[in-house]
Amino acid sequence: MITVFGATGTTGAPLVEALLARGARVRAVTSDPAKIAPLEARGCEAVIARFDAPETLARACEGAERIYLVTPAHQDMRRWKADTIAAAQAAGVRHVVLATGLGASPKARLTFGRWHSETQECLRQSGLEWTFIQPTYFMQNLLWQAGAIARDGVYHDDLGGPVAWIDARDIAEVAAEALTGPGHAGKAYGLTGPEALGGAEIAEILSDVTGRPVRCVPLAAQDAKAAMMANGMAEEVAAAMVELASIAPKGYLAGIETTVSDVLGRPARRFRDFVAEHRDAFVG
Ligand SMILES: NC(=O)c1ccc[n+]([C@@H]2O[C@H](COP(=O)([O-])OP(=O)(O)OC[C@H]3O[C@@H](n4cnc5c(N)ncnc54)[C@H](OP(=O)(O)O)[C@@H]3O)[C@@H](O)[C@H]2O)c1
Repeated sequence: MITVFGATGTTGAPLVEALLARGARVRAVTSDPAKIAPLEARGCEAVIARFDAPETLARACEGAERIYLVTPAHQDMRRWKADTIAAAQAAGVRHVVLATGLGASPKARLTFGRWHSETQECLRQSGLEWTFIQPTYFMQNLLWQAGAIARDGVYHDDLGGPVAWIDARDIAEVAAEALTGPGHAGKAYGLTGPEALGGAEIAEILSDVTGRPVRCVPLAAQDAKAAMMANGMAEEVAAAMVELASIAPKGYLAGIETTVSDVLGRPARRFRDFVAEHRDAFVG
């Protein structure tokens, strides 16, 4: 049995699909009772557990040999993951595939890098087998502004530099391989897409694919932070997000990793193909 936390989320939902396609027995975890029936309809077991109610985590881990552990970007995510690792340990789970982020290191200067590193160390110390999934920016983040792109023909660039965006489905497929294939314990998988793109190139791709002009308009850090907080994000997390974006102009988010093709034996998905597949969202 493989337990997938965050099973309805950006990486968890395609991971459930990928695991079922591989014939694995899957237990999907959600905090929302309304999502149980749709998850069961996909062919997996579904349970309710909440990271902020640690006593609910044991049931999610019970009888599982492996787990995928992801939480939303949240100010409490280190505690949430530590509690889940403790529950996994108590339940006799063998291997945890942990979603963190590119650049997670004890020496990281960025908040997210340090937060993710702390969780990686917690898992290492647990004695459980581990695999770290360390992605860069998700292409799916572009969908957050699909409405504005469709309505105003504007792509708001809060990065200001080239970024090697990755499709979350590639993250999910690497995680599925780590959860079902041999030889992935003790590996840290830095994951990027196949190319680094700046704001002007993204606007050009959006224009080409939608057949409508899309302009790139830079978004200042304080405006990006205010927009995230207006969407309900805690100030501490929004600050960490803009801090991460601030290294893009220096080229630090542009490095290309070959992990997707190394692990899956096929190239990582391209940005243009992602936009084409989601064209309807960008046209409105
Ligand atoms: N976005 C990026 O570009 C990016 C880049 C690098 C790293 N990351 C990292 O990736 C992680 C986010 O991954 P993701 O996008 O796959 O996650 P996500 O979609 O943000 O969240 C996963 C799921 O967590 C569940 N959830 C929310 N609150 C919960 C709670 N209290 N208890 C239990 N479950 C809860 C939600 O599902 P239910 O409603 O079904 O409970 C949600 O669908 C973060 O750690 C972030 O730092 C993100």
